[in-house]
Amino acid sequence: MSDEHNESTNPVLAIIGKIFIFAIPASLVVMLGIVGAAFLGGSGVEVAEAAAKPAPAAAAPAEPAAAAESASAPAAEPAVAAAAPAAAGAGPDASQMQLGKAAYATCAACHGPDGAGLKAGPMLMAPSLHGSELLLGDVDAALLIILKGIAKEGMDYMGMMASLGAGLDDEKMAAVLTFTRNSWGNSAPAVTVEEAAAARAKFADVNAPAGVKRAEIQAIVDAHK
Ligand code: HEC
Repeated sequence: MSDEHNESTNPVLAIIGKIFIFAIPASLVVMLGIVGAAFLGGSGVEVAEAAAKPAPAAAAPAEPAAAAESASAPAAEPAVAAAAPAAAGAGPDASQMQLGKAAYATCAACHGPDGAGLKAGPMLMAPSLHGSELLLGDVDAALLIILKGIAKEGMDYMGMMASLGAGLDDEKMAAVLTFTRNSWGNSAPAVTVEEAAAARAKFADVNAPAGVKRAEIQAIVDAHK
């Protein structure tokens, strides 16, 4: 008897189960149909409008946040630039740093906007200028590199630094070196326009069309003291 009872309830449960299995997808189809019809039909405009309304409302608070961000970014830069001369004691004057920062656009294509070397895939276009001995040491070494370029002797970097002396006058050359020597934690004496002009004159006879070789820089500098 109990067996019969079980057998009689099982088909009932099975039928109820089938109804649910059918009813749930069917109700979804019906619901999607209603939503679809609402969008296609006249009332769809209202539905679409109602759905669209929260979006601009939600976007509105985001805008001031983005504006605040973009406003704080440029605001932070002068603060850093202003801090650099202070850290260097007597330090370079602000107008030379400003000029140097603008002229640095020439260098940023390879050395990166932050002086750390622009990434080109897994490689760098050029070495980082942070703590660079050639940049921060003897002023003449840095001037020689800008005036003659630096020879590409290996495949360490994607870029190749040609002579930039023609594109930078003495004032800009002094300023860009003063800027790079006093940014990103670097600290070295400012480079004067006189030093830049003197380097241009005394290195004029250095014949290095493909740039000076790293190992020869100090010898060339010493020979022109
Ligand atoms: C077209 C790319 C390019 C540009 C533009 C460029 N450089 Fe370079 N620079 C290089 C490369 C590449 C090297 C390293 C060369 C090598 O060792 O193969 C280098 C090396 C140097 C070094 C020696 C760094 C070290 O410690 O090894 C200094 C200093 C330097 N550049 C300063 C500058 C300054 C300042 C400017 C802008 C006035 C500038 N460079 C513009 C590509 C560039």
